Amino acid sequence: MNSRDDHKKNPGQNISDQKKKDPDTTIDSHHYRELIEPAMAWYENHHRDLPWRQNQDPYRIWISEIMLQQTRVEAVIPYYERFLTALPTIQDLANCPEDQLLKLWEGLGYYSRVRNLKKAAEVILRDYDGKMPADHDAILSLPGIGPYTAGAISSIAFGLPYSAVDGNALRILTRARLDDRNIAEEKTKKAITKELDQDLQALTAYISSPGIFNQAMMEIGATVCLPNAAPKCQECPWNTMCMGYISNRMMEFPVKTKAKARRIEKRSILLIRDGERVLLHKRPDKGLLAGLYEFPSLDGHVEPNIALDYVKQMGLEPLRIEESIPAKHIFSHIEWRMKSYIVHVAQVTEDIIEVPAESKQGAKSYLLAELHEAKETYAIPSAFQKYTELLWGGKKRGKRKK
Ligand code: ADE
Repeated sequence: MNSRDDHKKNPGQNISDQKKKDPDTTIDSHHYRELIEPAMAWYENHHRDLPWRQNQDPYRIWISEIMLQQTRVEAVIPYYERFLTALPTIQDLANCPEDQLLKLWEGLGYYSRVRNLKKAAEVILRDYDGKMPADHDAILSLPGIGPYTAGAISSIAFGLPYSAVDGNALRILTRARLDDRNIAEEKTKKAITKELDQDLQALTAYISSPGIFNQAMMEIGATVCLPNAAPKCQECPWNTMCMGYISNRMMEFPVKTKAKARRIEKRSILLIRDGERVLLHKRPDKGLLAGLYEFPSLDGHVEPNIALDYVKQMGLEPLRIEESIPAKHIFSHIEWRMKSYIVHVAQVTEDIIEVPAESKQGAKSYLLAELHEAKETYAIPSAFQKYTELLWGGKKRGKRKK
């Protein structure tokens, strides 16, 4: 049996035979059937050896898919290994204290993803005996799991016929089909997911592993039909059937309208030092960077006297202030432009400083942490990386996908 046949449950009959019998399967821009088998055969010899491909454990696949949603493969690998060493089972995840969980995720960003992982693990423990259910709709109903992740887990871990359509899949499928639907619109992703699900489900008798097809799309998207460079069409398993390549129009696709411009917010960051310690603040449980630790900051780019007033409102006695480095951080919808001050204050006896509600900054609680403690215990998001590097030499952050 050759490697192509390995993917078929019934190698005596191939997908093309099936197509001839079924008048509904003529190739149009919304049909993908002829793409499936060549992609799977190509995957056998061309996929990267990645840690989440060692077995079909649904927990490991789930964690990888959540981490890979906004971050590049190379950046995810060390996080992935560390996370699974610390929390090897769904039960460990469900029982992990939030601060430890955020610390394991520190630098990956999009912290609601890891909170949802924990919530979903609690549901799996309560409702499914601690095992990921082998059922697409049950997986889809878990917190933080949308159609892409449900399709990836159910197809890769359980061999169920569901697609996993992300930005890469949208790019390669719309190129292959000269499909001019706007991929920036959620309805396009929804429609293509549904169309591809239908094709995978119509062909279940012939395809033993839809998970291999989904991973083949990920590989073609990452290594051949590239997002920000010319596609390597010579190397593509679809080059005899890709309508974009055949008509030399692949660079016209995908059609994607521009995202709204980011809102720019100026901030002044205060690195308040009491001898060897530094002042940290836990952000509120809701909103941007919820529950993470940060250096105190003020809205706008303020002058030193305003920064000093703020420090005095904390009940601290500033000894010296110096302007430090600026930094910029891009979130999906907001861009922070930061200036910073290092403020040395007189020694404090407490570890926690409570600022009363009557003060201009409102009720706030700050903690004073030794630098090694701040580095090892508290999850500080990469928005502050320049400052953690300055104070204790922080690690490189996980690189975002564009
Ligand atoms: N991107 C999203 N999911 C992936 C996976 N399982 N392997 C490689 N890249 C991916």
